[in-house]
Amino acid sequence: MKKTYCQRLFGLLTLTGTLLLASCGGPVETQKVSLLPQPAHVEETPEQVFVISSGTTIGYNSPELLPAAVYLSEILGTESVKEGAADITLTLTTGDKEGAYTLVTTAQSADISGCGYSGVIAGIETLRQLLPDGIEAKQKPHRRWGVPAVRITDSPRYEWRGLMLDVSRHFYSKEEVMELLDLMALYKMNKFHWHLTDDQGWRVEIKQYPLLTEKGAWRHFNSHDRECIRLAKEQDNPDYKIPADKLHIENGDTLYGGFYTQDDVREIVQYAGIRGIDIVPEIDMPGHMLAAVSNYSGVSCTDNTGWGTTFSSPACPGKDTAIEFCQNVYKEIFQLFPYKYVHIGGDEVEKTNWKKCPDCQKRMRDNGLKTEEQLQAWFTHQMEEFFNANGKEMIGWDEIIEGGLSETSTVMWWRSWAKNASREATAHGNKVIYTPNSPFYLDYQQDKKSVRAIYDYVPELEGMTTEQQQLIMGVQGNIWCEWIPSRERMLYMAAPRMLAIAELGWSGPEQASWEDFRHRMTDQFNRLNVMDIPYRIPDLEGFNESNAFIGATTVEVSCPDPTAVIRYTTDGTIPTAESALYEAPIPVSETTDFTFRTFRANGAKGDFVKTRFVKSEYAPATQAAPSSPGLSAVWHDFRGNRCADIDQAPLKGRYKIEDVCIPKKVSGNIGLVVKGYLSAPADDIYSFALLSDDGSTLAIDGEMVVDNDGPHAPKEMTGQKALKKGYHPFELRYFDSNGGTLQLKVTGSDGQTIPFTNLYMH
Ligand code: ACM
Ligand code: ZN
Repeated sequence: MKKTYCQRLFGLLTLTGTLLLASCGGPVETQKVSLLPQPAHVEETPEQVFVISSGTTIGYNSPELLPAAVYLSEILGTESVKEGAADITLTLTTGDKEGAYTLVTTAQSADISGCGYSGVIAGIETLRQLLPDGIEAKQKPHRRWGVPAVRITDSPRYEWRGLMLDVSRHFYSKEEVMELLDLMALYKMNKFHWHLTDDQGWRVEIKQYPLLTEKGAWRHFNSHDRECIRLAKEQDNPDYKIPADKLHIENGDTLYGGFYTQDDVREIVQYAGIRGIDIVPEIDMPGHMLAAVSNYSGVSCTDNTGWGTTFSSPACPGKDTAIEFCQNVYKEIFQLFPYKYVHIGGDEVEKTNWKKCPDCQKRMRDNGLKTEEQLQAWFTHQMEEFFNANGKEMIGWDEIIEGGLSETSTVMWWRSWAKNASREATAHGNKVIYTPNSPFYLDYQQDKKSVRAIYDYVPELEGMTTEQQQLIMGVQGNIWCEWIPSRERMLYMAAPRMLAIAELGWSGPEQASWEDFRHRMTDQFNRLNVMDIPYRIPDLEGFNESNAFIGATTVEVSCPDPTAVIRYTTDGTIPTAESALYEAPIPVSETTDFTFRTFRANGAKGDFVKTRFVKSEYAPATQAAPSSPGLSAVWHDFRGNRCADIDQAPLKGRYKIEDVCIPKKVSGNIGLVVKGYLSAPADDIYSFALLSDDGSTLAIDGEMVVDNDGPHAPKEMTGQKALKKGYHPFELRYFDSNGGTLQLKVTGSDGQTIPFTNLYMH
């Protein structure tokens, strides 16, 4: 991708004396245009390059752009920033959509005009991406960087392109948060939702209530920590280790944690603001606030706090002292965060204490509230009035709809299964931010489909009116950190999925092209390597979880990330830096178990994957002569989490289905057993791609071909089997508890999908 333009420049630049002189300073590095998110309009002027060196000047036309100019000079490693026009000029405009910008580069200059400060920053990020990846190095080498001559006009699709970080379950230092903000800025993400408190740790200093951090920011290792330590060993993955700098030894006791002082918060808010990012603080209430209820009395229903049936003891909306406590905490938060939006949380509130608490019950009687959901709504409305009186607007998780939504609060939709939440909220006139857990929860394990699932997501529901669509503010990825203990693991979970969120939120839907995005995402990997971001290397390609071959075959593996290398073993051990390097297809003539592992450009270990190549014979067809097309499906009222147990659950219904699917009438607790015959059209090796949420298994001729069992989000697993032409007994099992997904795709060795109408009989 890297090219030296020196020779071509000389040819061109003889026309322009100044640049001819500049071109004498040595070779100019440049890079092809590959931007993410994709701008609305890009025109390139071939053969012209704007050269940036340490002497390049940056000018700005309005004093409020000084921080943006300094930020750009830091990115470029230049020395001169001044008011007025310069080699690179930043201009504030009005009128367009907030965040819109124009970037024009010629052989002589670069001009960025942006609508609002955020528009100028968006233009700066585009300019940054037009520069070679080396610009991202912390120590800037003394180079001359070339920017292709372009004219770009661009504007965001949505005003909200967010990322949430949970710093309670595991803590991230000020510098680690700033690094994430830098990464967000690069991709024009502009809202950082900071989940500052939860049951496992209170992370922000509140001067009126010092115990919140003195005690609430520290803990003994909990079950999440222990699981991370186990995974670090099991997966040979240091990113799961609990970082030593988050441990605190007190009287021989090891505590884990940390918190941000109010000065830290101010510094981070300023750092984000320079990068065009607003910070939305979340102090989750009335649930998920164990640190508060267990360190201060008068906040919960009783002094006996801890874990209830499902969630922790919440604050007590019946007590004025509790309301006062919550408002006092927010009073200090309002002073720290200038952005108008503040997040109250409001999710997963255990209401058993409220049912027994005399204060809560009195509050309900006094206010004519019939249910505990209405009591939560009453609490939320009290807090909202307080927010509004202090010039703030409230956001809450979608549970705030239950029991009565106020006129003005914004709903953050997260429960994919509460499908109508966004329809209901927008019909009521409230704004909505889309963060449905599947696919926007970035703590969920990634697989080969997870980036695409985000990219293809349509952030609106069928049948919404134009008015309702206009209330959708945008999209956000959430990084919950129960099982993410380190900066490395956090960045691995965030990238590259956050690139897909960034593009979904920024680029118009008419521009969407997965193939184009995939190439541009791959182009980003080298930049991310220079930035030392341990993004997840995409899945290796060229094999299934299990593979069949007849006689002999070659195993051909490829990595979509050209900066990574592949090593492998065949003895079941996890590959190390000394294991065999994959350089060319590997011949196999016996059943072989491979473990492939990627290594990053800097040598760090990546993920490993196991796959089996099974030497096979074509399995003979059965003598059975099924007469009806399709398959038979039996539904059991199943609440377990293993496919093998489904038929022990009570039977609920029997159906005939044409293709593998969840029959229309089947919902709730689903355990399905689908049986029949697969009709193999020829002697061939067939591939089976089984996608399910939750678990599924596929057996053919009584032999497991795909094992996608266990509770999980949508996940596809693939297997192969060699079959003789004719009928083969087929059994597919599937379970889920809230609606789910089930699909099976069958392909022959020519790679063609076989239509289901030709496949199934019973
Ligand atoms: C959430 O995931 N509990 C908002
Ligand atoms: Zn109470």
